Amino acid sequence: MLRRLYHDQPETFAFSPDNQKWAQAQMKKFPEGRQASAIIPILWRAQEQEGWLTRPAIEHVAQMLDLAYIRALEVASFYFMFQLQPVGSVAHIQVCGTLSCMICGAEDLIGVCKDKIADKAHALSADGKFSWEEVECLGSCANAPMAQIGKDYYEDLTAARLGEIIDELAAGRVPTPGPQNGRFAAEPLKGLTTLKDYDSGKTKHNASIQLATDIGDTVKRIDGTEVPLLTPWIKNAKAAPAKKASAPKAKAAKPAADKPADATGVTKQQAVAKSKAKPTGKSNPDTPAQSQPETLAAPRSGVEADDLKLISGVGPKLEGVLNDLGFWHFDQIAKWTVDEIEWVDSRLKFKGRIVRDDWMAQAAKLAKTK
Ligand code: FES
Repeated sequence: MLRRLYHDQPETFAFSPDNQKWAQAQMKKFPEGRQASAIIPILWRAQEQEGWLTRPAIEHVAQMLDLAYIRALEVASFYFMFQLQPVGSVAHIQVCGTLSCMICGAEDLIGVCKDKIADKAHALSADGKFSWEEVECLGSCANAPMAQIGKDYYEDLTAARLGEIIDELAAGRVPTPGPQNGRFAAEPLKGLTTLKDYDSGKTKHNASIQLATDIGDTVKRIDGTEVPLLTPWIKNAKAAPAKKASAPKAKAAKPAADKPADATGVTKQQAVAKSKAKPTGKSNPDTPAQSQPETLAAPRSGVEADDLKLISGVGPKLEGVLNDLGFWHFDQIAKWTVDEIEWVDSRLKFKGRIVRDDWMAQAAKLAKTK
């Protein structure tokens, strides 16, 4: 829009004594020689006093700030907040015509302004009380369509409601600003669609805090046992038939591919597993209460290793340890006796988890669903 000075200008401008005092105080906010920085608030005060920015007012402000007149005019003509022509003595209505407001009925609001005020923007109504213009987004898009009247926002407008507002202003009343459809602020128009549990008081905390509280994991360090707790889908997966591992772990190479390590016919893998499974000498952790369960050097011939991670409490690391000890299949674990549990337990880093998570019962169930 072309912004130029109004054709009919008053002869002079002077601030009221109070405004003059206020303007001089604004200038003192800036370092000596930088008084020009006060131009926007002082121009604004001139507009507040007169209703619009006259040429004498712009010149007066330029003089006060020791500025070339053109510099002050540049500022006044750049910002749309400055009205360069007379506005309604009661109110100047700024209707937002940008996307959200346009979609929600800004054109109807403009229609009301045309009917009730003047056919053209920036023209005064017949009684001189009102003027209007279309402006760009005023940042209240969630309450579209809206209009700024004076310093207030009137939101969630309808054409009928804007007509009433203009009538009330004309009658000397000031309608309450804000949403005009009963909304408190910018909450969803049709009520909450999310966070309903919180709203109904069913939950005390937001989702993150609720989960943290439910899990109760606190400052406990991650050790692999938290998997079923933090990944419930893994737990659910246990109800479904156990899926065979896509391929045995690299370290569990098929024994068939190897030749016997010696004349006894024992493969290299079997030899390694045996040496691991049967500690000897002083370092032997066996006690009289322990007995070694059946171990295998590798998955049974022609069968893939079971996914031992399906056992609650067994993570990838523990699965590796179990494989190293010679356990590849659910049915191996399912039949551990008390003494055998002792034997395995003594070879795990954290003791007691076999019984605590009842690996045997879990393994038995998983073995059946294979
Ligand atoms: S589009 Fe109208 S306030 Fe943003």
